[in-house]
Amino acid sequence: MEPYSEKVMDHVRNPRNVGEIADPDGVGEVGNPVCGDMMRLGIKVRDNRIVDAKFQTFGCGAAIAVSSMLTEMVIGKTIEEALRISNRMVAEALNGLPPVKMHCSALGEDALRAAIRDYLSRQGCELCVCGELDCPHRQDCEDRRRTREKAHAAAHGHAHGHGEHGDDKHGDDETEEGA
Ligand code: FES
Repeated sequence: MEPYSEKVMDHVRNPRNVGEIADPDGVGEVGNPVCGDMMRLGIKVRDNRIVDAKFQTFGCGAAIAVSSMLTEMVIGKTIEEALRISNRMVAEALNGLPPVKMHCSALGEDALRAAIRDYLSRQGCELCVCGELDCPHRQDCEDRRRTREKAHAAAHGHAHGHGEHGDDKHGDDETEEGA
């Protein structure tokens, strides 16, 4: 496997914003469907802006680095800006991840979206399943999701949902951070 970038190693050795936010405004807890690793992300929001974010990740070095970089990227962003952060953007901010570890970056994006969904539901609003805050086609998006799920279940003979991000293999460098 390709080595990690210096930036990844910096975040692995000195992860930023590890821990739990007291009285969070939104929490996202997700598992990586590829490897089963876990990430919990808490956010504090003031006037529609994320003012603090902390994570606890049980996963590989790449997952720790992604979690750490993600918290640095979201702090100071509005909810709308944070929703535009993708797993690829986080990987690029880390100067890249080895292709076999790209699925690890999905954990960060999924946790961020889950934390924002939680925040929004506490405010009485909801993201469309397409991920847009103000989507005017919610029913169409829901219908498309159902169709995709049915096709997936028919193809694989089961009904549980896989993530949309990576499909590569599990890594071998499990570590626990901030738990
Ligand atoms: Fe599971 Fe990286 S997140 S191997």
